[in-house]
Amino acid sequence: MKILYILLAFAILLSVQQVSAKDYVIGEHKVPVTKPDPASTYAGSEKCKTCHMEKYNDWKTSGHPYKLNTPAEIQVFNSPPIPAPEGYTYNDIYLVIGGWGWKSRYIDNNGYIITKTGADRSVNGSNQYNIATKQWVDYHPGEKLQFNCGNCHTTGYSLAGNQANKPGIVGTWEEKSIGCEACHGPGSVHIAKGGGKGVAIIKNDSAAVCGACHTRGADDTKIIAKDGKFIDHHEQYPEILNGPHKGLNCVQCHEPHKGSHVGQTNPTEGANIEAQCSSCHAKQNTDFTGSTMQKAGVKCINCHMPAIGESATGDAARFKADVKTHLFKINTDANAKMFTDDGKFANGYLTLEWTCLNCHNTKDKAWAGQYAKGIHKYVKAEATATATPVTTPKTPAFEALIAISALLVAGLLRRR
Ligand code: HEC
Ligand code: HEC
Ligand code: HEC
Ligand code: HEC
Ligand code: HEC
Ligand code: HEC
Ligand code: HEC
Ligand code: HEC
Repeated sequence: MKILYILLAFAILLSVQQVSAKDYVIGEHKVPVTKPDPASTYAGSEKCKTCHMEKYNDWKTSGHPYKLNTPAEIQVFNSPPIPAPEGYTYNDIYLVIGGWGWKSRYIDNNGYIITKTGADRSVNGSNQYNIATKQWVDYHPGEKLQFNCGNCHTTGYSLAGNQANKPGIVGTWEEKSIGCEACHGPGSVHIAKGGGKGVAIIKNDSAAVCGACHTRGADDTKIIAKDGKFIDHHEQYPEILNGPHKGLNCVQCHEPHKGSHVGQTNPTEGANIEAQCSSCHAKQNTDFTGSTMQKAGVKCINCHMPAIGESATGDAARFKADVKTHLFKINTDANAKMFTDDGKFANGYLTLEWTCLNCHNTKDKAWAGQYAKGIHKYVKAEATATATPVTTPKTPAFEALIAISALLVAGLLRRR
């Protein structure tokens, strides 16, 4: 009799497993997830921690684990505290989207993205909180908006059903945010076999792994512009594919488990950069060393990776937004255009207003064009400087001060 029960239970278990077998997809193009073993299922990042403590601890400092946060989890972030929208308390919120590095949006208890706020929730907008400015701005104000972002914001995503049966959520996931298995594939068989190199786990260095989510639109080679003013955010992959580094993988520069952007759990800008520019471009590094701008604290990335992509904040008049570009190549022609005439796409190189005028904000493109070629070696002639006194541009000096103090802070933090 007992045996029968056990067999019955076993049969039910098997059938349940069959019913819940899901078609997992990932990224912008919702491509099917590759399983390292046909029997692999999702185990969750906490299970990997047991044997890979160091990787786990690194990953915890990056933005990836914090893409979706419960009200309790978001309270742990306190620099600055992420408020709930006006008219809501955290009891009315199912999950906070982001809030780690740039901005936060909010999912209500029915799974919809909150788009109406204010004391009686009748005001359209003021529903996105920007961390840098501590301001509320509009995101699809007033619309009835489902959360259909799970393909890039979760691990083990399936288009079928609704997470926690919430009608506003499109699809389901096995783990919220970007867990270990988003990049390594479902790991249950790897764990069951006790782990090991090449044992039922994916280890893939390709830029396409990251590019699944760090892209936008149907075509990975097109860089979509935002309002014709900035590059839209999460487009690092198309930028790479359009730039001189198209032969490189993301992980040749980035340690994939650590953070790069300054965020709630990562105080150090560029903390995951393993290969500095100088390690591959020794000549340019030598040329630049001793130049006027190098001495003033300007760094390679200030010109080659300006924040030209917009996630939360941007000031087009000052040529500044909040996501650093991966285009790298600078077009020194003062007449070159950053965006196509219809304002829909970026042309695939950096133009001088974005590389120079964000600091030299009292100058124009024609001025920058005179100096751009050979700029690495540029040393301001002392004689000229004394003959016609040059008033030090206010912003560059200020920028340099920031750059230098950032370096000092970074140094201090690294030492700990
Ligand atoms: C954003 C993608 C991504 C996430 C998330 C991620 N990894 Fe990785 N991991 C990689 C890539 C890519 C490599 C191989 C590149 C390299 O060697 O630096 C790698 C390598 C590894 C390695 C092999 C290291 C070695 O020296 O051979 C281990 C172990 C590992 N990851 C464990 C984890 C664990 C555990 C987690 C979660 C706590 C995790 N990873 C999360 C992308 C990721
Ligand atoms: C029971 C211990 C154990 C658990 C749990 C475990 N691993 Fe491993 N894993 C290992 C061992 C041992 C190795 C081989 C040594 C190494 O590379 O660290 C390994 C290697 C790896 C590698 C490198 C594979 C290669 O071919 O080089 C990756 C990636 C990895 N694990 C990811 C994960 C992920 C993701 C999880 C959670 C789903 C996980 N591991 C859970 C023990 C474990
Ligand atoms: C193609 C993948 C993809 C899709 C689809 C996507 N995102 Fe993102 N999102 C990203 C990536 C990658 C980042 C971080 C990198 C960047 O912004 O350049 C990000 C960043 C964010 C942030 C800022 C996070 C923070 O900590 O500051 C928010 C908020 C956000 N996304 C909301 C959404 C919402 C809401 C949707 C659905 C309507 C959505 N995203 C759809 C990939 C995606
Ligand atoms: C499943 C989708 C997905 C994949 C795959 C993915 N990312 Fe991300 N990535 C995101 C999202 C979403 C964010 C925003 C996280 C946040 O702000 O909370 C992000 C943020 C980042 C950031 C900025 C936050 C930080 O920690 O500095 C970096 C850098 C980054 N990803 C690098 C990579 C690299 C390198 C790879 C490949 C090894 C990769 N990502 C693979 C979705 C993904
Ligand atoms: C892992 C090696 C590597 C690293 C690190 C690296 N690069 Fe490159 N870079 C290359 C390669 C390879 C090319 C393409 C071949 C060439 O033109 O030299 C290239 C090309 C370029 C070009 C275009 C060259 C041209 O002739 O038009 C620029 C600009 C550039 N890199 C800037 C940078 C900056 C700035 C950094 C640091 C943020 C950096 N690179 C980091 C390897 C690297
Ligand atoms: C003040 C802005 C600025 C800084 C800082 C800067 N660059 Fe450049 N870089 C340029 C411009 C402008 C060009 C285009 C020059 C040309 O086409 O003649 C360029 C060109 C390059 C190229 C293409 C090949 C070449 O030599 O023309 C590489 C590679 C490069 N820079 C790497 C670096 C590295 C590495 C650093 C830091 C050590 C750095 N740059 C710092 C502005 C800058
Ligand atoms: C040539 C080296 C290089 C390559 C290749 C590269 N990155 Fe980066 N990435 C950087 C550097 C340098 C930074 C800025 C670090 C800092 O803020 O000091 C950065 C920053 C970022 C950021 C944060 C942006 C911000 O504004 O803080 C994201 C996200 C990112 N990279 C994703 C990727 C992805 C995804 C790929 C591959 C498609 C990739 N990177 C390839 C060097 C590289
Ligand atoms: C991160 C900010 C920053 C960026 C980006 C930047 N500069 Fe500078 N620049 C400075 C600072 C700081 C000085 C030093 C001010 C001084 O001592 O006169 C300076 C000095 C100069 C000078 C000499 C002073 C003068 O006014 O004659 C020239 C020329 C110059 N930059 C050209 C450029 C060009 C061209 C670009 C773009 C390719 C550029 N800079 C990008 C900050 C920047």
